[in-house]
Amino acid sequence: MKKKTIVYGNGQYARLIHQNITDQGGLEIVAFTADRKFVTEQTFRGLPLVDFEEVEKIYPPDEFTMLVVIAFWRMRNREVMFNKAKSKGYSLENFIGSGVIVPSDLIMGENNIINEGVILGPFGRLGDNNMIRPNTYIGHNFKIHSHCYVAPGCNIGGGCEIKSLSFVGIGSTLRDRITLERETLIGAGSLVLQNTEPWSKYVGSPARKMGEHAETGIAFG
Ligand SMILES: CC(C)(COP(=O)(O)OP(=O)(O)OC[C@H]1O[C@@H](n2cnc3c(N)ncnc32)[C@H](O)[C@@H]1OP(=O)(O)O)[C@@H](O)C(=O)NCCC(=O)NCCS
Repeated sequence: MKKKTIVYGNGQYARLIHQNITDQGGLEIVAFTADRKFVTEQTFRGLPLVDFEEVEKIYPPDEFTMLVVIAFWRMRNREVMFNKAKSKGYSLENFIGSGVIVPSDLIMGENNIINEGVILGPFGRLGDNNMIRPNTYIGHNFKIHSHCYVAPGCNIGGGCEIKSLSFVGIGSTLRDRITLERETLIGAGSLVLQNTEPWSKYVGSPARKMGEHAETGIAFG
């Protein structure tokens, strides 16, 4: 029997993805958990909300799975929360939304959230904890490492590689066989024609480098 799932997160994206799951199915969410400092009420979206510090006492990892849902405001937090959930021994779910094209040969890790209408080409590899938002096309032979965020409506040509903790802004295009190095930020609506450097920000068409963020990681606002 499929296990019931706890969502780790009670922010904007936890709300959004929980609504997607409610509408599209695939997982049975029974509770939310968040770090104690973010728990100000006992329920969230009509379900119990418990301190992450004690979640395993109420929802043991051998009986429940977890889905970590965190936005992109501080990209490095995505990896931190994923590792915290793993360190408690939880198996993490993947959520595949309605109408996603998932090739039968896809090699995929855990805690990936792939939203409605995404098309993944064949011979692809997806690591852990990536979020791919609606209506994005990712061509054949892709390799997406872990903790990345790909915004809605992107077009990613065949043979592209996106290294961990990268962010691809809404409506961007990557030419085929492009590599985004670790913690690349691609601004909204960009056209990427060349490989990137790690910890760097690119915008425009064609995309040009406009900054670096090696110390802070990718952070918005
Ligand atoms: C790239 C980005 C992070 C830059 O933000 P920022 O550092 O605050 O930069 P600013 O808004 O101060 O803009 C700095 C300059 O870059 C330009 N610029 C910013 N974003 C740009 C973009 N996506 N494409 C082209 N030029 C851009 C601005 O016009 C400005 O130019 P100027 O100095 O000639 O006036 C931001 O604009 C962006 O694209 N964020 C991604 C949004 C997104 O995709 N969200 C997903 C929602 S699901």
